[in-house]
Amino acid sequence: MASQLLSAVGNHISLPESYVRPESQRPRLHDVINDTNIPIIDLGSPDKQQIVAQVADACRSFGFFQVVNHGVTVDSMQKMMGVASEFFHLPPEEKEKYYSDDTTKKMRLSTSFNIRKESVRNWRDYLRLHCYPLEELVPGWPSNPASFKEVVSAYCREVRQLGFRLLGAISLSLELEEDYLEKMLGEQEQHMAVNYYPKCPDPELTYGLPAHTDPNVLTILLQDPNVAGLQVLKDGRWMAVRPLPNALVVNVADQLQALSNGRYRSVRHRAVVNSDKERISVASFLCPGNSVVISPPEKLVGGDGCRAMYRSYTYEQYYDKFWSRALDEHCLDFFK
Ligand code: SIN
Ligand code: FE2
Repeated sequence: MASQLLSAVGNHISLPESYVRPESQRPRLHDVINDTNIPIIDLGSPDKQQIVAQVADACRSFGFFQVVNHGVTVDSMQKMMGVASEFFHLPPEEKEKYYSDDTTKKMRLSTSFNIRKESVRNWRDYLRLHCYPLEELVPGWPSNPASFKEVVSAYCREVRQLGFRLLGAISLSLELEEDYLEKMLGEQEQHMAVNYYPKCPDPELTYGLPAHTDPNVLTILLQDPNVAGLQVLKDGRWMAVRPLPNALVVNVADQLQALSNGRYRSVRHRAVVNSDKERISVASFLCPGNSVVISPPEKLVGGDGCRAMYRSYTYEQYYDKFWSRALDEHCLDFFK
C-alpha cells in the first residue's frame, strides 16, 4: 500500500493525471493577495482586555489569526517540525506499516484527503493521530523516529494548554463566562494532522488541500517558517498567509461558528504547493467530546422569535457527516 504515498517516490518529474483539477477548479495562483496578512495577536501582552478585543475582531472578520508569545516553546515547535520531517523521509517500507484509509482509526498514515471519496487527488501525505488522553494513545504511535513519541506528546500537551487559553479569550469575547466553552465542550478530544507536501511538478494544476473548513472547534497550526502554502478566503479572494517565525496560526472551526450562532466564521482555507520546496505543517484540532450536544447559548440566539442558525446535533453526528461528504461542501450547511 505504500505505493499510494507521494513520499514513497523520490522526485516527481510530472504531475500524474489523477491530480489534475479541471480548469475551473484550479488555484489561479496569480490572483492571490500577497501584500497583506491575517491579524497577529501578542498573547504575552499584559492588557488582557485588548487581547480579548483583538480575538473578537479577528474571529469576526477573518476567522484566522497568528499568535506570538503563546506559551508553546520554540524548542518544542522546532523538535515537532524536525521529527515530522524525519518521519516522512523514512524508507517506504518503514512507513507502509502505518498506512490506512480507514478514517475511524486513531493513528494512520494516508495520502490526499479521503481517497475513498474523491475523484481528484491532492498533493499531500499525512499522518493523523488522536492525541487525548495521551497515556492511552501514545503506545500506538510510531516508534520510528526514536524520539517521535516523546517529542509529539510534549508538543501536544503545550498546544492543548494554549487551546484552552484561547477558548477562554474567545468565551470572554462573546461576553460569556471565561470557562463557558471549556465546560460545555466536555472532555475534549485532540487530533493532529502532520501534513507533508512534496515538491510538486505543476502547482498551478493541483492542491495540497483544496478549499475546506475544519470540523472541530479550534485549530492551531504550526507551519514551516520558510515555506508559505496556507491561503485563506477573504471577501471572495484568496489571501496568502505569510508564516511568521515562532508564531502559530489559529482558526475558528465549524463548531465555533455554530456555538457563536454565526458571529464567528469558520472560513474556507486551502493549502497550495510549490515546485521548489517541500512543506510541512502540523495542525492540532480541539474537538468536542463525541456526545456533546452543539447548540449556542441562549444569550447568543437573541430574544423572542430569533432562532439558532443550525439545528442541535451531537459532535459524533457532525464528524460522521464530515468524513462522508466531499471536502468542498461546507458541512455546516447540512445542519441548517
Ligand atoms: C489544513 O488546513 O489542515 C492545513 C493547511 C496547511 O497545511 O497550511
Ligand atoms: Fe484545515
